[in-house]
Amino acid sequence: MVAKTVPVDPFDLVVFGGTGDLAARKLLPGLFHRFQSGQLPEGAKIIGAARGEMDTKGFQAHTRKAIETFVAKADRPKADVDAFVAIVDYARVDAMSNAGWSDLAKLLKGREDRVRAFYLSVAPRFFGPICDQIGAAGLVTPLTRLVVEKPLGRDLESARALNKQLSDAFDESQLYRIDHYLGKETVQNLMALRFANALFEPLWNSHHIDHVQITAAESVPVGTRGGYYDQNGAMRDMVQNHLMQLLCLTAMEPPAKFDSDAVRDEKLKVLKALTPITGTDVDRDVVRGQYAEGPDGPSYLTEAGDPTSKTECFVAMKIGIDNWRWAGTPFYIRTGKRLRTRVSEIVIRFKDAPHSIFDAQVGGLKGNELVIRLQPDEGIQLRLNIKDPGPGGMRIASAPLDMSFAEDLGRDIRMPDAYERLLMDVVRGDQTLFMRGDEVEAAWAWIDPIMEACDHGAAAPQTYAAGSDGPSDSLMLMHRDGRRWREIGA
Ligand code: NDP
Ligand code: BG6
Repeated sequence: MVAKTVPVDPFDLVVFGGTGDLAARKLLPGLFHRFQSGQLPEGAKIIGAARGEMDTKGFQAHTRKAIETFVAKADRPKADVDAFVAIVDYARVDAMSNAGWSDLAKLLKGREDRVRAFYLSVAPRFFGPICDQIGAAGLVTPLTRLVVEKPLGRDLESARALNKQLSDAFDESQLYRIDHYLGKETVQNLMALRFANALFEPLWNSHHIDHVQITAAESVPVGTRGGYYDQNGAMRDMVQNHLMQLLCLTAMEPPAKFDSDAVRDEKLKVLKALTPITGTDVDRDVVRGQYAEGPDGPSYLTEAGDPTSKTECFVAMKIGIDNWRWAGTPFYIRTGKRLRTRVSEIVIRFKDAPHSIFDAQVGGLKGNELVIRLQPDEGIQLRLNIKDPGPGGMRIASAPLDMSFAEDLGRDIRMPDAYERLLMDVVRGDQTLFMRGDEVEAAWAWIDPIMEACDHGAAAPQTYAAGSDGPSDSLMLMHRDGRRWREIGA
């Protein structure tokens, strides 16, 4: 069983980099699932575009292989795969020359009345040339949309240059900057939780919330991506985008409407209200780490291929938000590779009850915790203090009130992958879950001084044990404030 679907308008989707890793792992399987669910309208066309010598049949075989590799066998009956590969086509184009562009134009000819989406699943250095070629080949129609993937710059200056390149060719209303975390089911549920219920909003502020924790922990190492990763590190790879977006959605004011600009305006205000962390404050509020060699694999430095690398694969930070709602309530965030387990969650830790009416032997009253779990096991949990059941008088225990989506909505429901939802939003023309150019720049403007301090004099990354909760300084970041992280995977 999959969630209900509403068919989208007829569209053509051109995936530049259609033979690459992202297309094989996420885009083609995602489109396949949407096709299976009946969401793709009759006549929808998916065109892979790359330099590789291949014809339509070759790309259909490539697509079949991607689906067989990345979709569970039970979810891909042969008849569905056969029908899906029949709607894919291929154009051999080179972003850096005129080769192949007229072939692509032929495939799109006569289809100007439908939505036309170009997905740039290629390295950012190709964004400018591809935009120019799309324009020169006359492929831009009134319903054209352009989708771009991270990395969206590596600092404010490069992000501005990239935004300029994109806005020279397209209007902001045509641009879809992907942050796949925004496509995750629970991220949207966070908005539903906050803005579709009156219950939490009165409590959602520094009067009632002691602090917020945001964790995106991965158990995998950087592995074969060491070369790429070492140029970026966790701050650029995860914090500047995914974690900042989660923080914004948690902290933002209620938008007047659930529409793309209203939501993005509110997120932007949060980014602009972040307390700057500069100079020596970086050593106080930012902890960086690198995993050591463990029984299951080599150290970060070995995988990065540079024994002197100062690039972090773990970051923990204490962040303040300078506005009325959040003054005095810190946000602690952390992310890293090769940690104890894979878990992404937002924890809202409410303040302790102001006074306990119970005797000391009844047990301490823990502050309530709202845990919004993005993955795995998407769901929301509220920890309450209750009476420990059974005879023996009053004893207080902390117990979870659980809402697991899989349980509530039917055990066999398949949660759509973030890319599935985002691809369909592109076709629908809904930019709500995509980053606007000014948001990307505001996030870089806040990160830049931190990176600057890390590059010039701030403490080097601390080594942590593979499979642990990260460096000991990350625990200290909380302990010194009298707080503690929720255990990774608790
Ligand atoms: P790959 O290296 O696997 O694929 C690159 C694709 O670009 C290939 O299809 C390649 O085909 C094509 N390409 C390269 N040069 C040209 C050219 N001159 N003209 C036309 N096509 C070209 O990269 P990924 O798929 O991993 O990543 C693509 C983008 O998505 C990158 O920006 C990456 O940072 C981003 N991204 C990737 C993620 C992932 O999970 N892989 C996750 C998040 C973002 P050919 O060589 O035949 O032309
Ligand atoms: C990507 C990062 O954006 O997100 C990767 O580049 C990271 O380094 C990945 O592994 C994590 O995504 P998810 O959805 O598995 O949490």
